[in-house]
Amino acid sequence: MRFLPVFLDSTAGLFVLVGSGEAALGKLRLLRAAGAHVRWFADKADVVEAASTLPGHGRLEIDAGNPLEADWSDAAAVVSAAGDGLDARIAQRARRRRIPVNVVDRPELSTFIFPAIVDRGEVVVAIGTGGASPVLARRLRELIEALLPARIGDLAALIGRHRGRFAAVPRALSPRRFWQNVIAGPIAEAVLAGRSAEAEARLAAAIDSHAARGDGGKGTSETVFLVGAGPGDPDLLTLRALHALADADVVLYDELVTAAVLDRARRGAEQVFVGKRRGVPGMGQDDINRRMVAAARAGRRVVRLKGGDPFVFGRGGEELEHLRRAGVPVVVVPGITAALGCAAEAGLPLTFRNEASKLAFVTAQRAEEAAAVDWSSLADPQTTVVVYMGLASAAAVRDGLIAAGRDGATPTAVLARGTRPDAQAAVGRLDRLAALAADVGEGPAILVIGETVARSTPWQAALGASLAREAA
Ligand SMILES: C[S@@+](CC[C@H](N)C(=O)[O-])C[C@H]1O[C@@H](n2cnc3c(N)ncnc32)[C@H](O)[C@@H]1O
Repeated sequence: MRFLPVFLDSTAGLFVLVGSGEAALGKLRLLRAAGAHVRWFADKADVVEAASTLPGHGRLEIDAGNPLEADWSDAAAVVSAAGDGLDARIAQRARRRRIPVNVVDRPELSTFIFPAIVDRGEVVVAIGTGGASPVLARRLRELIEALLPARIGDLAALIGRHRGRFAAVPRALSPRRFWQNVIAGPIAEAVLAGRSAEAEARLAAAIDSHAARGDGGKGTSETVFLVGAGPGDPDLLTLRALHALADADVVLYDELVTAAVLDRARRGAEQVFVGKRRGVPGMGQDDINRRMVAAARAGRRVVRLKGGDPFVFGRGGEELEHLRRAGVPVVVVPGITAALGCAAEAGLPLTFRNEASKLAFVTAQRAEEAAAVDWSSLADPQTTVVVYMGLASAAAVRDGLIAAGRDGATPTAVLARGTRPDAQAAVGRLDRLAALAADVGEGPAILVIGETVARSTPWQAALGASLAREAA
């Protein structure tokens, strides 16, 4: 390791920047964003004019003079992106004065280099490859970006605001233990979920009672996460869902949750199936509620994992209300609902300008439920209708929509096991919906009825042929 990673105080002195090309502008942006005082030696008037409006809170001085003759006595660092023979002379001058110097893309001339940065406010991750491969550093940055919660910087800032107060009160816990509890507990959860006022109040209360869990952990409950597992492909899990799964002590999951998604849970987490399987009566909702509360009260972090999104035909609302009534902290993590996952996979736009301006999600598990739906509100040809749990009631859905005035020739799709390796689709006209449903085999499946179905690129040819055949 030739370059030692350190964090430089951007307000420690003046930053000399030389050059007015793209590389220099990139460094100017970075220095401005960090609040540095920059003296910029640039010779292109138009670039200078455009760049002087860049956001930033440090001072920006423009100098049209010769950087090799300028006074650098107050310089904390020199950055050169002049791009010609000037770079080497700038580097030589800075080295002679023992001022740290960076020449962009020339590690051999530099005494420091800029890392790739993941910037989350107070939390900054710097990645270096010793100047060997900025492309590799950027790739690593992307990977780390994906792992770090977006609001991790807010968590650091919250802790920073309260450190002094914690140090000043008599303490029952060591600082290390106290802050560990904060970082791993409901206070951090609240920050990461964007509930900053709640986090602030909880932390203040925890400091007052000398323990991050209020009374030292007794009488309080762990958090339950109601997590949307998406339609099946684990790559469609949200980052927040992945974080919740990685921290889970127990995962209660439904029948629609795939093994590939469950595989993302922490290895040591207990996995409990609470769904229904064909022919086997599932666990009742009261039992599920009881289990969630009992596990959380026993200090276990619970992930309640549901297919798609917990609030779309998933009884997530009922569970949320129950947990709140029981006084158990709860965080809802949205998931990609089946309609969105399946439509994306099929290249099927659910709305389209001037063609489909309304989108309705309805559910009709049995024929009698389908008969009870007010189809007249969905008869408008501008409405795309997505029916969940409608595979077995496809004939009743067809009859309801056509009786309400929907054209029997409306393009229609049945999308089964969407985003899973065995996904299957059938497309045709609304008046053939029952046959299409029979074609796809087992569920889960959604029915999509609307003009935009014909826009799904892979199906345009098949659907065109099918519509023509029916019409003949
Ligand atoms: C009880 S609902 C749960 C919906 C879920 N909460 C969501 O947001 O997708 C179950 C229905 O969702 C639909 N569904 C779920 N996963 C699916 C998938 N991978 N492909 C097609 N439909 C799916 C089916 O209509 C299934 O009968």
